[in-house]
Amino acid sequence: MLEQKILNIKTQALENIKKAQNEKELFDLRVKYLGRKSGFNKILKSLKDLSLEEKKKIGPLANTVKKEIDEEIKKAEKIIKSKVDLEKEKIDVTAPGEKIKRGHLHLLTIVQNEIEDIFTSMGFEIADGPEVETEFYAFDALNIPKNHPARDAWDTFFIKNQKSKIKNQNLEEKIVLRPHTSPVQVRYMQKHKPPFRIIAPGKCFRHEATDASHEHTFYQFEALVVGKNINVGHFKYIAEEFFSKFFKKKITVRLRPSFFPFTEPSFEFDINCTVCGGKGCSACQGTGWSEIGGAGMVNQEVFVASGYPREKYQGFAWGFGIERLAMIKYKINDIRLFHSGDLRFVSQF
Ligand code: PHE
Repeated sequence: MLEQKILNIKTQALENIKKAQNEKELFDLRVKYLGRKSGFNKILKSLKDLSLEEKKKIGPLANTVKKEIDEEIKKAEKIIKSKVDLEKEKIDVTAPGEKIKRGHLHLLTIVQNEIEDIFTSMGFEIADGPEVETEFYAFDALNIPKNHPARDAWDTFFIKNQKSKIKNQNLEEKIVLRPHTSPVQVRYMQKHKPPFRIIAPGKCFRHEATDASHEHTFYQFEALVVGKNINVGHFKYIAEEFFSKFFKKKITVRLRPSFFPFTEPSFEFDINCTVCGGKGCSACQGTGWSEIGGAGMVNQEVFVASGYPREKYQGFAWGFGIERLAMIKYKINDIRLFHSGDLRFVSQF
């Protein structure tokens, strides 16, 4: 009787193990057939009440059956596990590819590259200078003497407790974050003789409140063309050529009298509005013109400070904002977006 019972449990168990679909089902079967409350366990417990003879017969049988069930469950578990792994490794070669996200250049870099390409195609060289400057290059050499009110035009960041020794003099000068790219004019002229034409793009800093058209960190590009017979006509021609290439349409420029210590005469520089072409629209507040930056004929004092003889050369220079050009070209209405790090802005370009 008991023997038959054990064999019945075995057949039933093996059948169910065969049918099991997953690890959970196998676990349940293990509890059902081998667990503490299983019929099997009850039989094992009741062995003690049997006669010695029966014990000898049933005991080993019960044990082998128990082992067999256990082994079958283990085998089934292995098979199911290997199936799960295969499932994971299966590759659907017909599935559409996932798009790989790639980085790209920031709009400012794109525009700076465009500017550099246009100027190098016109025979200009690209020059460079440090973002952390001495007072000499940022101001003195540009004819903006110490304690002169003209310095107020540049809200400058001074580096605290940092001074630079002036060569061959027992004097020290302050260190600044350059408020414009004009210092590169002097650095370049100290090392090169005219004739030459350069542009110098780079980062500038001003200690001022930010709003939609002012940022404490921004980019300018300086232009400097020096030779023996350079005049305002050259300046106007080069500028119109550049802007027409940059905006891919005919651009005319307008010069308005202005003042900079390092140019004489000095101009404010406007281009005709790229949206309405000069008729007047909301983008140019009805004026037909967009302000671009400052320019002028290089002041002889700057040549002298750079080591050139007075009155031997003439040249023109300008300093234009790169963000300003990008804003006009790409219709961006807030300069603060450039350095916001906002991907919704950055990834549009
Ligand atoms: N450096 C001037 C500024 O940032 C611009 C400028 C450059 C004007 C060169 C004249 C000539 O305001």
